[in-house]
Amino acid sequence: MKKYCKKLIEMYNEINKLNKKDYYLGNGKFSTTILYKGYAYKIYPIVCEGEEINLSSAKQINDIREEIGWQTVASKTSKEFKKISPTIYKHYICSDNEKCKDSRHAKTYYIIKMEYLKDYIDVDKFAMENNELFNNDFFLNKIKELVEEKNRRNIPNVSDGSPNLRDKNVAGVQALVNIEKVRNKKDDCVYLIDFGNVMDYDNIMKKLLIEHEDPLKIPIDGPNKLKLLIEHEDPLEIPIDGPKNELKLREREIRQDRRTISRLRSRSRSRTTGDGIKKIKRRRRRRTKRRRPTKKRRPTKKRRAGKSSRAR
Ligand SMILES: Nc1ncnc2c1ncn2[C@@H]1O[C@H](COP(=O)(O)OP(=O)(O)O)[C@@H](O)[C@H]1O
Ligand SMILES: [Mg+2]
Repeated sequence: MKKYCKKLIEMYNEINKLNKKDYYLGNGKFSTTILYKGYAYKIYPIVCEGEEINLSSAKQINDIREEIGWQTVASKTSKEFKKISPTIYKHYICSDNEKCKDSRHAKTYYIIKMEYLKDYIDVDKFAMENNELFNNDFFLNKIKELVEEKNRRNIPNVSDGSPNLRDKNVAGVQALVNIEKVRNKKDDCVYLIDFGNVMDYDNIMKKLLIEHEDPLKIPIDGPNKLKLLIEHEDPLEIPIDGPKNELKLREREIRQDRRTISRLRSRSRSRTTGDGIKKIKRRRRRRTKRRRPTKKRRPTKKRRAGKSSRAR
């Protein structure tokens, strides 16, 4: 059995049966997050077969793997930008003695071990409790920076983003905020969390998970590279390092346009177009130069003799 499985499931069940415990960090529709030994554990009870009409356990597990993949991309640091989400360290499926209703299969739990954001609260709670600080330019700019970076990494929006952020034109994200750090204008006062409902219409993460079996192995530029592959029929046209920013993307578009124009030109270049004529004339002149007729030499005596001998 995986480390702490029994203990974590026990803690999870304590919360759900009784009142909230001091290790309870929060919950959503399908998961509960708890604090244990300095880490945040997000615990999903996996549905038993037939328990939910439109959700099989395999589908639910795949969805959670996609969530881990997106958060992995978000939690990497690059030369240009720090991480935008808490790091995930481990993920595994656990069970104890509990059984599903069919009494044959074990009840399982998907556990995600991640970095604990100490003294961070949900952004909507922050907006309610401290509206003045929430409306502060420093905070709003910080969250906008995170969202811009999220978009640069090609992580789509989530369908259950914070309503208070949406009102500020920051749609499709959930966030955790540390009020003291906002007050002290600290760079790490806010992080994006919960990639459980990413609107991945191009199935980017599904495809990445075919290539990388472990979602923690997905590289920071994984979604960007795959998106490029989908957009370009000819993979040879994709630059090796891919676009780092909008400017590079635009440059690539211009390069491609130029290539297309020159290809079309060379195809449609008729002899009546100025450019075409010049090149054709130049080529002809060169050829005629090379073939300038040489003076006809009179055959020498020897040659004449040879010829006559061969003729014989
Ligand atoms: N890394 C973390 N550190 C501290 N608290 C967290 C962390 N991740 C989640 N939480 C708490 O748990 C709550 C629910 O987490 P979330 O990922 O949004 O779950 P769900 O997908 O079920 O909505 C958050 O609002 C937050 O209060
Ligand atoms: Mg949530």
